Amino acid sequence: MSFFSKLPLDIRFLFLPYLMQFQNVLENPQTAFSTLTDLMIVSIATQKGGAGKTTTSIALSAGLARKGKKVLLVDIDQQANSSKVLLRHYPTIPKEQSVHATIIERKPLPIHKTDVPNLDIAPGHILLSNTDVELTIAKDRREDRLKRELDKVKDNYEYVFIDCPPNLGWLTINALNSSDQVIIIVAPGYFELDSIVQFYKTIAEVQEFFNPDLQLKGILFTRSDPTVNTRESLTILRQMYGKELLPVIIPENTDLRNAHFNKQDIFAYNPHAKGAVAYDKLINELFL
Ligand SMILES: Nc1ncnc2c1ncn2[C@@H]1O[C@H](COP(=O)(O)OP(=O)(O)O)[C@@H](O)[C@H]1O
Ligand SMILES: [Mg+2]
Repeated sequence: MSFFSKLPLDIRFLFLPYLMQFQNVLENPQTAFSTLTDLMIVSIATQKGGAGKTTTSIALSAGLARKGKKVLLVDIDQQANSSKVLLRHYPTIPKEQSVHATIIERKPLPIHKTDVPNLDIAPGHILLSNTDVELTIAKDRREDRLKRELDKVKDNYEYVFIDCPPNLGWLTINALNSSDQVIIIVAPGYFELDSIVQFYKTIAEVQEFFNPDLQLKGILFTRSDPTVNTRESLTILRQMYGKELLPVIIPENTDLRNAHFNKQDIFAYNPHAKGAVAYDKLINELFL
């Protein structure tokens, strides 16, 4: 007779939820594991185009997935560049199978498997360009549309990254409202630095009105090269945002561009490239 069966019946009932959880782990380690680990949802954002949001989103998602983590990348940019790199059949995906369906029709988040093991994607769509107008006149909790559907699937993942559009409209608000943390991407240049102030205001507003738990994970300086422009930008960044500036700086590296041209993440294309080494270091510093 086991120790457990010797306990009085009412005491045994107290243990029941824990036993069921344990049995779940034994029978179905994959799903049970994900419900037992911490989930982190991170927006990759800035209101500038061309800064490196998509490059960073793909590198972080694919890098963690290749290290065995279950990852979902949500592409809410109308340019859908993450989706075009990670989904071979992207051109055949209708808007109903993209996050457009979630944002506009409040449908479940469409999730597609990528060729990278452990990495799924909810693809973007060109028609997301219309959503800001539609959300502006919407009468429901328009800031909640992504979060409501992400909540239903997030337990299947250990990390969710959201590749944001290059503006501070309702789509970015939806992303920040769904997130635990946000990484601001900054490339060299005066206007890029200027945009940080605006982004801080948006974070403060989202914290005040929608998501008080949202945290700034840090500012990631990308596309760094040996020019005066980069040197001056970094000096100003260190003076003004020294504490928030993340410790890893991403270099300008053509392999990153070539990888995406080949529809590959940088770790598949060339794991020894300077860009791959930098993003791997960032993953180890921030997430592992
Ligand atoms: N570190 C980098 N080195 C070289 N090219 C880069 C780097 N980061 C981004 N790029 C290139 O710059 C362009 C814009 O980058 P992208 O990540 O799409 O920016 P965003 O999503 O912010 O608009 C793309 O062609 C991309 O390949
Ligand atoms: Mg992009």
